[in-house]
Amino acid sequence: MKKIAVLTSGGDSQGMNTAVRAVAKAAISKGIEVYGIKRGYKGMLEDQIFHMSSLDVSGIADQGGTILLSARLPEFKNPEIRAKAAENLKKRGIEGLVVIGGDGSFHGAHHLYEEHGIKTIGIPGTIDNDIAGTDYTIGYDTALNIILDAISKLKDTAISHERTYLVEVMGRNCGDLALYSAIAGGASGVMIPEIKSSIEDIAEVIKKRRSQGKLYDIIVVAEGAGNVLEIEKELSKKVDTSIRVTILGHTQRGGSPTASDRILATKLGIKAVELLIEGKAGLMVGMQSGKVTTHTLSYAWENYNKTSEEDYKIANMLSL
Ligand code: ADP
Ligand code: F6P
Repeated sequence: MKKIAVLTSGGDSQGMNTAVRAVAKAAISKGIEVYGIKRGYKGMLEDQIFHMSSLDVSGIADQGGTILLSARLPEFKNPEIRAKAAENLKKRGIEGLVVIGGDGSFHGAHHLYEEHGIKTIGIPGTIDNDIAGTDYTIGYDTALNIILDAISKLKDTAISHERTYLVEVMGRNCGDLALYSAIAGGASGVMIPEIKSSIEDIAEVIKKRRSQGKLYDIIVVAEGAGNVLEIEKELSKKVDTSIRVTILGHTQRGGSPTASDRILATKLGIKAVELLIEGKAGLMVGMQSGKVTTHTLSYAWENYNKTSEEDYKIANMLSL
């Protein structure tokens, strides 16, 4: 393995830069040439590939976003498009590719390996935490802490005005950000895509809390659990508290990664390069019970089922 490339793809997440830095430094230290691909698979297709030095990754461990930029290219599902993109690596003699992204990006990496023999390794980078084979994805911890900070601020003003806040957080298919921010943030309720919760039940919780003299309610709503404005409309028919909606949106994807995300990104980045040096490919790296682990790329989506009904019950038990 003499030349490898690295790209970031899909929704960006805090810690992607830390992972890019680890990959580049680990490879350069072993005498491997490193190429950066801009804008994910789009840049791979459009030949936006440049030689990287350790200077390119210097001082980025703490920077949010991704210096390689990210993009979505739905056409990458088309094998002909993938063949064209693979050609841009082959013509440079690039044998290995580290893909930092979510499960969509892992699908692309899987196909590149199966169809074109590009030695791909996936590093889970997404705030959603929706990938099997790792306890946490890179960016999840930072996003969770951003939500907790927001909940804490909203709580102050909610109390002053004795209001109910519906806080929409990211997660179209995965409720981890919502569920664990609700538990850690002391929320009064949570709605996640994986488990149906009734607005009636939430209204009952609010009424009970108010009958106990509690002055506010924070309900965390994952974006995939339903339209938060519709939920507000329905809820307002059932309770007489003043309701406000706050959509945290893309604030959850920015800012400096937490220590935990930086360490995770660094360890996984180094492991990805080690695997390529060993000639391994078609794999993803993760951290499970404190150990760096490897699985096939398809393991990421085939075994994804992280929802903990037990933790959902805990969140609801703590709501009163
Ligand atoms: P994430 O990687 O965060 O899940 P997306 O689902 O948007 O984000 O996927 C990122 C990119 O990965 C897509 O824009 C596309 O280029 C590529 N991709 C997604 N799904 C597939 C697939 N089934 N086959 C090939 N490439 C895919
Ligand atoms: O996958 C990461 C994520 O932030 C999801 O939580 C969210 O649903 C989606 O990306 C938002 O995508 P976009 O950046 O296209 O608005």
